[in-house]
Amino acid sequence: MRAKISNLNAGLMRYGIREMVELTQQIAARDPQFKFIGENIGDPLEKGWEVPRFLRELLHAVVDGDQKRAFGYTHSRGDLAARIWVAENARRQAPASRLDPEHVLFANGLGGAISILYRCMGQGARILQPNPGYPAHISSESFFAGAASLGYHLDPASNWEPDLDHIEAQLRSHPEIAGILLINPNNPTGTVCRKPVLESLVDLAERHGLLLISDEVYFRLVYNGGRHVHLAELAAGRAPLVVMRGVSKDVPWPGSRCGWMEFHNLDLDDEYRRFFEVVKRPLMLEVCATTMPQAVVPQIYSHPEYPVWLEKYTRELEANANSVYDLLAAVRGLNVTRIQGAFYMLSSFDQGALNGRQSLPVKNPEARAYLEGLLALPGVPPDKRFAYYLLAATGICVVPASDFDSPYPGFRITTLDRDPRRRDATYRILAQSVTDYLASA
Ligand SMILES: Cc1ncc(COP(=O)(O)O)c(C=O)c1O
Repeated sequence: MRAKISNLNAGLMRYGIREMVELTQQIAARDPQFKFIGENIGDPLEKGWEVPRFLRELLHAVVDGDQKRAFGYTHSRGDLAARIWVAENARRQAPASRLDPEHVLFANGLGGAISILYRCMGQGARILQPNPGYPAHISSESFFAGAASLGYHLDPASNWEPDLDHIEAQLRSHPEIAGILLINPNNPTGTVCRKPVLESLVDLAERHGLLLISDEVYFRLVYNGGRHVHLAELAAGRAPLVVMRGVSKDVPWPGSRCGWMEFHNLDLDDEYRRFFEVVKRPLMLEVCATTMPQAVVPQIYSHPEYPVWLEKYTRELEANANSVYDLLAAVRGLNVTRIQGAFYMLSSFDQGALNGRQSLPVKNPEARAYLEGLLALPGVPPDKRFAYYLLAATGICVVPASDFDSPYPGFRITTLDRDPRRRDATYRILAQSVTDYLASA
C-alpha cells in the first residue's frame, strides 16, 4: 500500500465477549473432543428462548401488508409512528418527561446507536464509564476520543452500585469529563440502581453541568425485589439526558438490530441542543435504520399478550439467576451477588487468590500448547488466564471481568439457560473448576 490505512487507535477498540469466540475456534480446530458451552453472549435465543408467537404473527402481517412500510426506507430518524410511540411510552413511564417524537432517533441496534453517539462527541469531551461496564460503550468512547477510557467504580460491597465518591474524584481530576454513563439494569453485574443513587447522580449532573447517558436496554427485566426507576423522571427539567433502549433483550429479538436514543430535556442547554443536531447527521448519511422492526415496535409492546409473556420470562430469569447464585455462592474464593435485573452475573475472586501459575488440565496437547503460547504473551490479566484455561479444559466460555474494565478480577456468566439440567451441570463444572484452579498452585 502506498499509504497507511489502518487506524492507529484500533487497539482501543476491544470486545472481549466476541474475542472469546475466536479463541474457541482456535481450540476447536485443534481438539476434536472440544464441546463449546457458551456462557459469554447475552442472546436468549441461544439458550432455549423463543420469540413470542404474537411477534411472528405481527411480522407476517407487516410482510403481507403495506410493502413500503415493511421493505422501504424510513425517515432517517426512524419511522414516525414508532417515534410517536417511544415518546408516548416515555411520558407514561416518566410523567415528568416532555419527550418529543422529533427527539427520538432510531439506529441499527443499540450497538449502532452507541457508536454514533460517541462518534459525535466533541474533541476532548469525555464520558465517564462504569467499571465494570459494557465493552461497546467503553471501547467506542475511548476509540473516538483517541485515548484510554475514564471510568468510575461500581462497588461490589454495595451490590455494584456506582461509587459516588469515586465519580466526584474523577470529576475533580478530569475537567474534560462532559458526561456520565449509567447502565441500569447493569451489564455485566445485573444490578438495578436504587432511587437515592439515581437522585445523587442527577444532583451531580446538575451541579457540574454534565450530560447523563442512561443505557436502559434491560429495564423491563427486573426481579428479586429490584425496582427500575426511570432516570427521565428524576432528571426532568434538571439535566440533559439521553436514554438508550432497544428490542434485543426484552422481546427478545437481538437480530432485529433495532435500538433508539431518547434526547430528554433538550430545552435545558444550548450546547446539548447542538450535540443533538450533530447526532442527527450520521443518521442521515446512513439513510435509515432497519425498517421492519420499527414497523412493529408499537404493536409489540402494546400487545395484550406482551405483559403475560414478560411476566413468564422475568419469573423464569429470576429462578435461573437464583439457582446459579446458589451454586456459585458456595464456592470458596469466589464472590457473587444475587442479581435483580438483566441476565448476567459477575463474580470476583478473593483478593490475592489468583496467581500466574494456576492452571486446569487441558488434555489435548495441541490445544494446550496453543493456549500456553497465548498466556505467555506479556500483559495477560489473571482472570483472562482463568477464563482461557476454563474454556480449553471444559468448553465453558465465560468472559473475564477485566474485559469489562472491572477493577476486581473475576468473570461474567449469563443466567439464561432454560434447561435446568444442562444449566446445573454447567455451573457445577464451573464451581469445581474454580476450586481446582485456585488449588492448583
Ligand atoms: C448494556 C447494553 N447496551 C447495549 C447493548 C447492545 O444491544 P443491541 O443488540 O441493541 O445492539 C447490549 C447488548 O448486549 C448491552 O448489554
